[in-house]
Amino acid sequence: MKSVVEALLSQTIDILKQQGVLAEDVSPRINISNTKDKSHGDFACNIAMMLAKPAGMNPRDLADKIITAMPKDPRISDTQIAGPGFINFFVNDSWLEQQVSDALSDKYIGIKRADTPQTIVVDYSSPNLAKEMHVGHLRSSIIGDAVVRALEFQGHNVIRQNHVGDWGTQFGMLLAYMEEQQNNGEALDLADLEGFYRASKGRFDESEEFANRARELVVALQSGDEYCNKLWAEFNSISLEHCLALYKRLGVSLTAADVRGESAYNNDLQSIVDELTKANLLTESNGAQCVFLDEFKNKEGDVLPIIVQKSGGGFLYATSDLAAIRYRAQQLKADRVLYFVDQRQALHFNQVFALAHKAGFASDHVSLEHLGFGTMNGEDGKPFKTRSGGTVKLVDLLDEAEERAIALVRSKNPDMPEQELEKIGKAVGISAVKYADLSKDRARDYIFNFDQMLSFEGNTAPYLMYAYTRVASIFDKAGLDMNSIQGEVKLDAKKEKDLANKLMQFPEILERISQRGQPHTLCSYIYEVAGLFSSFYEHCPILSAETEAQKMSRLRLAALAGKTIKQGLNLLGIETLERM
Ligand code: ARG
Repeated sequence: MKSVVEALLSQTIDILKQQGVLAEDVSPRINISNTKDKSHGDFACNIAMMLAKPAGMNPRDLADKIITAMPKDPRISDTQIAGPGFINFFVNDSWLEQQVSDALSDKYIGIKRADTPQTIVVDYSSPNLAKEMHVGHLRSSIIGDAVVRALEFQGHNVIRQNHVGDWGTQFGMLLAYMEEQQNNGEALDLADLEGFYRASKGRFDESEEFANRARELVVALQSGDEYCNKLWAEFNSISLEHCLALYKRLGVSLTAADVRGESAYNNDLQSIVDELTKANLLTESNGAQCVFLDEFKNKEGDVLPIIVQKSGGGFLYATSDLAAIRYRAQQLKADRVLYFVDQRQALHFNQVFALAHKAGFASDHVSLEHLGFGTMNGEDGKPFKTRSGGTVKLVDLLDEAEERAIALVRSKNPDMPEQELEKIGKAVGISAVKYADLSKDRARDYIFNFDQMLSFEGNTAPYLMYAYTRVASIFDKAGLDMNSIQGEVKLDAKKEKDLANKLMQFPEILERISQRGQPHTLCSYIYEVAGLFSSFYEHCPILSAETEAQKMSRLRLAALAGKTIKQGLNLLGIETLERM
């Protein structure tokens, strides 16, 4: 509601400028405060006092002019001048009551569906198939998935693209090792992909013969050799299975159908280079084909190249990204393309986006957005590593989270049957890992800390999941269904109004996520809702309310709070439990 008052005042200032009451160049900061005593309204603003001097008026007179010029808004029932020139705003309670009751009977709990749905391509997760997925891909997968869910909830047409790294020279080495194993009559074992990669790299480094075979196989693969392609496909499908199993475990909505990796663009790469040639954008540098865009310079002032073809004829990461942009803009007809990729690739994306627009692979109407994320660090503030210094495997991390969560739930519920304990513990463990990541500003690095993320206090998954079960248990006791309760709501107590006001902000929050791709704003919001619910619950008895009407009204408000927390967590890809 603060934002409503703010918008009204800023509109009014414009009107007063047109009327000549205020000079064109005034642009005051609008400070709106919550009033302590509600007989003075819900919000107060000192704007008339700030502008009185430049306007050459006395503050109360200016406040009067402001109130007279202010457009009517159904959300504000009254405005009054107080003291030396404050303007007090009274929120229209019946409007708020109506909103709560409308949201309660709405399938989308008051979220407006987009008037003109956009086609939004989201590139996320996108691991390299040559190796096992590691913690670095966790962020991309879960942040991307949360934004995808929010966009779909708003009614946009979302196309998921898992741009896996399934091409490149390292595949020669892997295929050579596969071949060697098969020739030795050993069964192909890709259960431990990481080990397989290390072993092939070992062979590559120790044997010249092996290395030559690896190089041969890359060339054969790239020229479409059937045998090589069969080996390659076999390898990728096993590796992809690993990823799909992890998505399932993490509740990430990506499937095999969303995979369109680097190799999918192989046949388009030459034409990308041809088009760049035609557009006179290519320059040869040390035998390689490059584009130099003046806006990308290093510290010394040298223009940084975008290399699209190596001297030997091979294409690069940037080339497939250009082809992917062309496909997404022209074939998929994207209005926006969002990339959830490590912040360290920012230069790559900025260059490729600028070039794609310049070369016409995507028209200027297509918005290309790199939504980068920082690094996940260990307690020491350095990139997350195992005790022996290796990269942490995602699977191991999740195993540990689940184990710790099961122990935690057990300590709180010593009598819970083992099976239920396991189910709840697993949900809590995975949610804790996801939520800890989602609740941080994605652009920043963050420190991974099991104790913190598994705490039942503070802005954590366990706290919020528990907050939800508290709402659920009220309905359990009342013998009512939270999801179907509807009807009128009467907001008398301040705690009721505070909660209702917060609940009405849900659409704004979702809109922000869609625009900026920052799920942490949703996390903070759910956390605030949970906090306001808890103080409402403390101050306003529900089941023991004074009258039946008051009890039902409070139950309805509680239901909307519960549904909002559940829907919010759901959009973050976090499941709620009815009890824990
Ligand atoms: N496979 C890349 C990596 O792991 C990420 C790919 C991101 N998407 C893209 N279109 N370049 O670093």
